[in-house]
Amino acid sequence: MEEATILVLLLFSLHIQQLFTAEIGIISESSFLTENDTLVSPARTFELGFFKPGSSENRYVGIWYKKIPVKTVVWVANRDYPLTNVSSSMMRIVSMGNLVLMYDTDNVVWSSNTTSSRNATAQLLDTGNLVITDGNHMNIIWQSFDYPTDTFLPGMKLGKEGSAEWHLSSWKSSEDPATGEFTWSADTRGYPQFLLRDGLGAVKFRHGPWNGQRFSGSSWSPDNPIFTLNVVVNESGLVCTYDLVNSSVIAKLTLNSSGLYEFSVLLEDEKRLEVIVELPKDVCDTYKICGTYGSCNTADAQRCSCLDEVKFEPKNKRGWETGNWAGGCVRRIPLDCKNGTDGFINYTNVKLPDTRESWFNNTMSLTECKAICLQNCSCMAYANTDIRGDGSGCLLWFNELLDIKASSNRDQDIFVRMAYSELGESGRQAMDDLPLFSFARVAEATATFSSNNKLGEGGFGPVYKGMLEDGKEIAVKRLSKTSSQGIDEFMNEVVCISKLQHRNLVKLLGCSIEGDEKLLIYEYMPNRSLDEFLFDKTRSTLVDWSMRLNIINGIARGLLYLHQDSRLRIIHRDLKASNILLDLEMNPKISDFGIARSFGGNETQASTERVVGTYGYMSPEYALDGLFSIKSDVFSYGVLVLEIVTGKRNRGFVHSEHNDNLIGHAWRMHSEGKAMELVDSSFAESSNPSEVLRSIEVGLLCVQQCPEDRPNMSSVVLMLGNEGALPKPKQPAFFTEKNLLRTDFSSVSYPTSSSNDLTVTEIVAR
Ligand SMILES: *[C@@H]1O[C@H](CO)[C@@H](O)[C@H](O)[C@H]1NC(C)=O
Ligand SMILES: *[C@@H]1O[C@H](CO)[C@@H](O)[C@H](O)[C@H]1NC(C)=O
Ligand SMILES: *[C@@H]1O[C@H](CO)[C@@H](O)[C@H](O)[C@H]1NC(C)=O
Ligand SMILES: *[C@@H]1O[C@H](CO)[C@@H](O)[C@H](O)[C@H]1NC(C)=O
Ligand SMILES: *[C@@H]1O[C@H](CO)[C@@H](O)[C@H](O)[C@H]1NC(C)=O
Ligand SMILES: *[C@@H]1O[C@H](CO)[C@@H](O)[C@H](O)[C@H]1NC(C)=O
Ligand SMILES: *[C@@H]1O[C@H](CO)[C@@H](O)[C@H](O)[C@H]1NC(C)=O
Ligand SMILES: *[C@@H]1O[C@H](CO)[C@@H](O)[C@H](O)[C@H]1NC(C)=O
Ligand SMILES: *[C@@H]1O[C@H](CO)[C@@H](O)[C@H](O)[C@H]1NC(C)=O
Ligand SMILES: *[C@@H]1O[C@H](CO)[C@@H](O)[C@H](O)[C@H]1NC(C)=O
Ligand SMILES: *[C@@H]1O[C@H](CO)[C@@H](O)[C@H](O)[C@H]1NC(C)=O
Ligand SMILES: *[C@@H]1O[C@H](CO)[C@@H](O)[C@H](O)[C@H]1NC(C)=O
Repeated sequence: MEEATILVLLLFSLHIQQLFTAEIGIISESSFLTENDTLVSPARTFELGFFKPGSSENRYVGIWYKKIPVKTVVWVANRDYPLTNVSSSMMRIVSMGNLVLMYDTDNVVWSSNTTSSRNATAQLLDTGNLVITDGNHMNIIWQSFDYPTDTFLPGMKLGKEGSAEWHLSSWKSSEDPATGEFTWSADTRGYPQFLLRDGLGAVKFRHGPWNGQRFSGSSWSPDNPIFTLNVVVNESGLVCTYDLVNSSVIAKLTLNSSGLYEFSVLLEDEKRLEVIVELPKDVCDTYKICGTYGSCNTADAQRCSCLDEVKFEPKNKRGWETGNWAGGCVRRIPLDCKNGTDGFINYTNVKLPDTRESWFNNTMSLTECKAICLQNCSCMAYANTDIRGDGSGCLLWFNELLDIKASSNRDQDIFVRMAYSELGESGRQAMDDLPLFSFARVAEATATFSSNNKLGEGGFGPVYKGMLEDGKEIAVKRLSKTSSQGIDEFMNEVVCISKLQHRNLVKLLGCSIEGDEKLLIYEYMPNRSLDEFLFDKTRSTLVDWSMRLNIINGIARGLLYLHQDSRLRIIHRDLKASNILLDLEMNPKISDFGIARSFGGNETQASTERVVGTYGYMSPEYALDGLFSIKSDVFSYGVLVLEIVTGKRNRGFVHSEHNDNLIGHAWRMHSEGKAMELVDSSFAESSNPSEVLRSIEVGLLCVQQCPEDRPNMSSVVLMLGNEGALPKPKQPAFFTEKNLLRTDFSSVSYPTSSSNDLTVTEIVAR
């Protein structure tokens, strides 16, 4: 009996309940939502209806979780326009497409402002998104997810993309959903980042910049068990969404009315949501609490310290001690940007500074990034934009660094600009590995590439003489802009080459890149190049035989180093008298090495489609078939030796009795036992016949037709240094470039300069 009564009562109360709240599936022109109705999502996760927050008498239409007994509102339609008398209020579609909240039949307090040509309906999806679709249900014409209030749900977007913007703003209080004091929004000045601002617009807290994995400084690791963040940062802006790892878990992010950004999840008991993370988390999250270059550490009693206690000091020391940190820190040794010697120091365990005055490019590499930063005196630091893999992208800061926080877990490297003397051993080493000059500095050194300072035209562009501030003389090669080489490739190349050090190689001091300008800076050689001595009547008398032999030996050692002893195997491909520079003591130094390797286009060690080299020095297999190897350099070396001994150019050599070039002539004289007659009259007296003969024979061995018949450079060095018998040279390859041009090339581009041994940078072989 009793049980039956209870059952009846229960049924009755259920009936009453249903009287009070009817559930509806859609809102349309004919289906209204009134105070006694709720709109429920298909899987009954969310519910939309009229509600009264706390003890307030105001009524609002909002969305809350259907399953959670403690009413947890995630969206409010009329947050700033409360209803006071709900009995005459309703939400419905008017004029076919406009969703409105109204009272007394004609007073609209809120409207979606949408129009449609068909009868639209409003529905609540299981994500908590209220959508208006026109007759075609796939066609969403409006959604509440585009108008967030204080809550960020899975599937929603937050951020900025072009002109679209999604941000959170807090409730005024827990009893008033009106637009409150705090906002959480994307700031897209510089590298986009999320900022928490107060009612006056002042920044309270800043999410570190997104680094491909997480927001810098954030303790949320990318593989946390609850959600995954999806963030895109590009020129269009910053867009953040998140997904729950377990989609049946209920969780949300809310900016509460005290300005705390909270992540909460539904507890086991399923009665209410519990906050598990909130931001700002601690005092160190307070925006710029430690001022410029100050770093905040929660583990320290003294919250603020300078980013680096050795290199920075508090600006206001007394204030600093009393907890007034706003003045921040300053460098102990000021930067010296004009000198071009500033470098960078790598800091790892910090939340990256405010990026509002920054610049970024997601495709640049760190090397490019460093180069760009170094060349702009207002650039204070750089970092990758994405730390995944080996890192990519470039982020540059153009202000004094602000809002840095010490981070316990290893975060991301940031490279902060420092004066040279502050760099320390490894820092200076890194600078010396990649010696970058600012374009402005080089331009100043060369009087803006004045034609008066032009030394000549090398294989890849003109060369200028210059003088640095400290009086040091330099030679600057301005690479032609047509090179298709990327900046990164170029820089890597320069780093490699700068590591090649040998007394018979010209020392590369550094490089400069700015836009499409690429400069190489070498030590200046006061005696300029070998050709200016060899082929000049008066100057040739200044170079006696012992100097010539020293030059022949020096070039051999330099070339051997390139071919065998350096870490890279380098084939010069353009060895010639004008590429042999001479220092004050007339020691030879090979120049233009290495760069040749990378300017040949798509090449392998064995062949190339673009023949780079100089007529008269090119081996037959290279000139004709584009095949190059260390033996093609050996051929050029042989030609050079014969030129040094004879004082004649191979190319353009004329003889009254035959049409052979210098190689042919030398072979002819050697076979006839008249090799000594080849010797240039300008030094004949000083010559040592056995050394001369030996040099001629080595020269002839080097210009053999078949690459296999030519010695390698280590044999050449041995042959030159020993007294023993040499292999007998066979008839060498001798051809004249006239025949070559007529018969073997489909197209040839001639240099326009009058110099007759200019490098031909492009010959298309048939
Ligand atoms: C809602 O229900 C209450 C109680 O039954 C009733 O007084 C009120 O008139 C209803 N409101 C509407 C709009 O039907
Ligand atoms: C609410 O509106 C209804 C209909 O317009 C009206 O009858 C009622 O008196 C109003 N109640 C209050 C408290 O204003
Ligand atoms: C609709 O338009 C009104 C008046 O322009 C505006 O105040 C209101 O915010 C708009 N509603 C939405 C949802 O954008
Ligand atoms: C919209 O709905 C009304 C009432 O249900 C109907 O009379 C009208 O034809 C519909 N219009 C369209 C364009 O479907
Ligand atoms: C930025 O990313 C968004 C989302 O991936 C994409 O739709 C947009 O086209 C991107 N913009 C640019 C300029 O790359
Ligand atoms: C997902 O969450 C639900 C509700 O908390 C739980 O019952 C279920 O076991 C979870 N699933 C997984 C794979 O963890
Ligand atoms: C905001 O969140 C914090 C931390 O959860 C809490 O202490 C505070 O009371 C909340 N403020 C309101 C108005 O709910
Ligand atoms: C430039 O830097 C070098 C290397 O640190 C230093 O020796 C020199 O004094 C600096 N020159 C000027 C003008 O500061
Ligand atoms: C930066 O410093 C960290 C730790 O000292 C080191 O592991 C990392 O290789 C450095 N990065 C560069 C590019 O030098
Ligand atoms: C980013 O850098 C790449 C490579 O240097 C360049 O091609 C691209 O134009 C740059 N993009 C922007 C927007 O500056
Ligand atoms: C340095 O960068 C800033 C910010 O991008 C720019 O305004 C300034 O013109 C740059 N200076 C030079 C010398 O390129
Ligand atoms: C170089 O040649 C190879 C093979 O012909 C080709 O696959 C590759 O794409 C070329 N690379 C460039 C940069 O042209």
